[in-house]
Amino acid sequence: MDRIDHNGVILKIHQLSSEVAEATIHCPSVASAARPGQFIMVRQQGVLDPLLGRPLAVAAVNGETITLLFQIVGKFTSLFASLPPGSKMNLRGPIGNGYLSRPSQNKHILLVAGTLGAAPLLFAFQNFSLCSRSDFVLGVPGKGWEGFVRYTREKVSRMTVCSDDGTLGIHGTALAALPDALNERMEIWACGPLPMLKALAFKYPDQKHQIRVSLDMKMTCGIGGCLGCVIDTSMGPKRVCVDGPFFLASEVQWNDMA
Ligand SMILES: Cc1cc2nc3c(=O)[nH]c(=O)nc-3n(C[C@H](O)[C@H](O)[C@H](O)COP(=O)(O)OP(=O)(O)OC[C@H]3O[C@@H](n4cnc5c(N)ncnc54)[C@H](O)[C@@H]3O)c2cc1C
Ligand code: FES
Repeated sequence: MDRIDHNGVILKIHQLSSEVAEATIHCPSVASAARPGQFIMVRQQGVLDPLLGRPLAVAAVNGETITLLFQIVGKFTSLFASLPPGSKMNLRGPIGNGYLSRPSQNKHILLVAGTLGAAPLLFAFQNFSLCSRSDFVLGVPGKGWEGFVRYTREKVSRMTVCSDDGTLGIHGTALAALPDALNERMEIWACGPLPMLKALAFKYPDQKHQIRVSLDMKMTCGIGGCLGCVIDTSMGPKRVCVDGPFFLASEVQWNDMA
């Protein structure tokens, strides 16, 4: 069985805005194994508070390093943003069997991100060379998110920005930039807050099988043992950590999702 817990060393933490940062971590074993859509449980080595790792999606792989993008929202992410180069980290993963796979040549992929949901989609864009057959839609709150929008725009070819307050791009959520219907060649890969994913599933009720969503659940173990992240699906109960985090929107029982 492959090892799941790895040691990594921070090479750089780069602040993209007051509340978003990019971490570059040297960890050859995770870098060589990570697939788009997978995530890792991250914690600082030797630190007991917070004790549990936090799930963060792999946003890029370059040689022996991985890139993580994170929003500073609480205890761990505040600590992470303040760590100097050389800090030692525990990385559990890469985790997830519901990852993304290379689409066939005739597919057109709409990558739909709500704020930091961009992270796994940027890795998919990089890994599958989706440049000529994808569109990227990024939804953000607005003011204060210019740095993250600029960062994302530098990585993708065609990107539409939507903002809740109308200060960046189209006024509205990411759904405002999407077509009324999906043709057979189109697939949506989406990651973001639950209300955005739910709204997507309800916008395309007959095409949910063409939509893949990454579900954001609180996670304790990340290895399928605690059952803290179980959801109901049309195929029975599934653990978001090891069976997801990407699921077909047609599998998810949306009315049961809080
Ligand atoms: C599969 C997966 C991949 C993720 N990838 C990323 C990523 O690439 N970048 C990123 O910034 N975030 C990502 N997240 C969310 C991230 O794990 C949480 O924001 C993080 O755990 C917060 O840790 P904290 O200690 O700083 O905050 P905490 O003190 O734990 O929480 C701060 C606030 O955020 C809420 N919160 C904590 N965890 C979650 C969660 N999973 N979903 C919604 N609200 C939460 C808490 O209720 C609290 O209000 C991902 C989550 C999952 C499940
Ligand atoms: S986080 Fe423990 S089973 Fe998923």
